[in-house]
Amino acid sequence: MAEGRAHLSVPIIYDTMWQSTEKMSLPIMQGIQDEGVDCKVIKLRATPMSVAIKEFWKSRGCLVGTPTLNNIMYPTIAEFLTHLRGLRPKNRIVGAFGSFGWGGGAVKEAYEEFKRMGLETVEPGLQILYRPSLEDETKCYDFGREFAKKVKDYHLKF
Ligand SMILES: Cc1cc2nc3c(=O)[nH]c(=O)nc-3n(C[C@H](O)[C@H](O)[C@H](O)COP(=O)(O)O)c2cc1C
Repeated sequence: MAEGRAHLSVPIIYDTMWQSTEKMSLPIMQGIQDEGVDCKVIKLRATPMSVAIKEFWKSRGCLVGTPTLNNIMYPTIAEFLTHLRGLRPKNRIVGAFGSFGWGGGAVKEAYEEFKRMGLETVEPGLQILYRPSLEDETKCYDFGREFAKKVKDYHLKF
């Protein structure tokens, strides 16, 4: 796929079983937008894979949101990252977040996948235990703002 010039934008590409990761994505989006960075929230199961890939491709940054399912990523997110790896993206900055119930593991696995692709990462991502509380939503907002700041800095290099 052609490289193309990336925009100062961050799609949030997520999936969810019981809406906790979804509930995280909205304050994260707000944080990103409050830094003046465009942000779209895309629920992977409700969106063609090609649309999600295109949104990634157009954007300098990307966040993936995935709950932990049996110690690993949610399958649609794993599939998305597998498609992406085959396309060998470059010059993008990425991060991950998600809800978990006990040991977690999905966010860590997403970062392992990002590193395999050689992408710039903002670590350690954000994990929230079960359903986000109001306090957790503030953490999500701050996470979004901090991520957007890193994307703006990184974008200056291009
Ligand atoms: C089938 C199933 C397997 C799960 N496996 C794990 C797991 O291995 N580790 C963990 O920390 N949480 C696990 N959980 C808990 C979920 O990650 C947790 O409920 C989370 O809040 C779900 O987020 P969501 O509402 O965005 O789907 C599992 C939940 C389900 C339904």
